[in-house]
Amino acid sequence: MFNKKSTSLAGQVALITGSESGIGRETARAFCRQGAAVVLNGRQAERLESTRQALAAEGFQVAACVADVTDYAACERLVATAIAAFGRLDILITNASISQRAYFADMQPAVFRQVLDSNVYGSVYPLKAALPYLIQARGSVTFISSISALNGMPSGSAYCAGKAALANLAHTLRLELAATGLHFGVVHIGFTQNDPDKRVLNAAGQPVPIAHRPPRWQKSQAQVAAIILRHVRRRQRRTVISGLGRLILVVHALLPRLGDWVVLTSQRRLRNFYE
Ligand SMILES: NC(=O)c1ccc[n+]([C@@H]2O[C@H](COP(=O)([O-])OP(=O)(O)OC[C@H]3O[C@@H](n4cnc5c(N)ncnc54)[C@H](OP(=O)(O)O)[C@@H]3O)[C@@H](O)[C@H]2O)c1
Repeated sequence: MFNKKSTSLAGQVALITGSESGIGRETARAFCRQGAAVVLNGRQAERLESTRQALAAEGFQVAACVADVTDYAACERLVATAIAAFGRLDILITNASISQRAYFADMQPAVFRQVLDSNVYGSVYPLKAALPYLIQARGSVTFISSISALNGMPSGSAYCAGKAALANLAHTLRLELAATGLHFGVVHIGFTQNDPDKRVLNAAGQPVPIAHRPPRWQKSQAQVAAIILRHVRRRQRRTVISGLGRLILVVHALLPRLGDWVVLTSQRRLRNFYE
C-alpha cells in the first residue's frame, strides 16, 4: 500500500543516522513522503531491518546500514551504502545520540566519554565521510541538538556539552565552507514522545528508562519530523522547537540568573526531567 507522497524532494538522497527508531525513524518517513530516497542507520541489525521493511512496504525507497557512528570506518561504510544504493548524497541529518540520567559527580569517566562521543563524533564522523558527496550536491547538513543545550541541565552534563558543541561546529563549518554552497543547520528539539523501549545511560553506563515527563508538554515524533523537514527545505541555520525552547533562548540571553533559578526550581520538583 502506497502512502500519499509529494515529490518535492524527488531525486534527492538523505542519510539519517539513528533512524531505526524514534524521531529518526519518523524523520525518515517524512523525507520519504516527499519523494527522497533515505538511508537508514542504527546499531541493532534486527530493529534496523524491521524499520527498513516497514518503510519499504509503504512504497518508499530505502536502504539501511548497521554502523556505529562513533567509528569512522563504519561511517565510511555508511556513506558507501548510500552511494552504492542511490548514486548520490544530498542531505545528512545527524540524529543518532545517547542521552544520560546521571549527575557529573557520580559518572564513570568512560560513561561521560561515551555520551559525549555519540553526540560529537557521532556527528563529526558521518559528516567527514560524506563531505565530498554533499559538496558535490550543494547539499544540506543538519545536526540534531536539544533545547537542553541552550542553557545546560543538571544530570545532563555530557549530553548538554555534546549537543551545545554542535551549534559551534555548524557555525564554524558554515564559515569555513561558505564557498561550497553547503547548508549547515542545527535543530534544538524539545520534549518529544519517546519509543517505549528508549533507554539512556545512568552513571555506571547501564541503560535505564528516561524520566517521566508530563505528556501535555511533549510533541509527537511526527510533529518534530515535520519541523526537521521544513528546516532542511528552507535551509535554516537554527530551529528551536517549542515555546519552552524559545523561552529558554530568550531568558538565557537576557536574564541568565532567572533562567538558572527556573531550572533549579523545576529540578527540585521533577528530578532528571529533561532530555
Ligand atoms: N526525545 C526527546 O524528547 C528529545 C529531546 C531533545 C533532543 N532529542 C534528540 O533527538 C534525537 C533522536 O532522539 P530519540 O528520542 O528519537 O532517541 P532514540 O529513540 O534513542 O533514538 C536514537 C537513535 O540513535 C541510535 N544510536 C545511538 N547511538 C548510536 C551510534 N553510536 N551509532 C548509530 N546509531 C546510534 C539508536 O539506535 P541504537 O542504540 O540501536 O544504535 C536510536 O535508533 C537525538 O539526537 C536526541 O538527542 C530528543
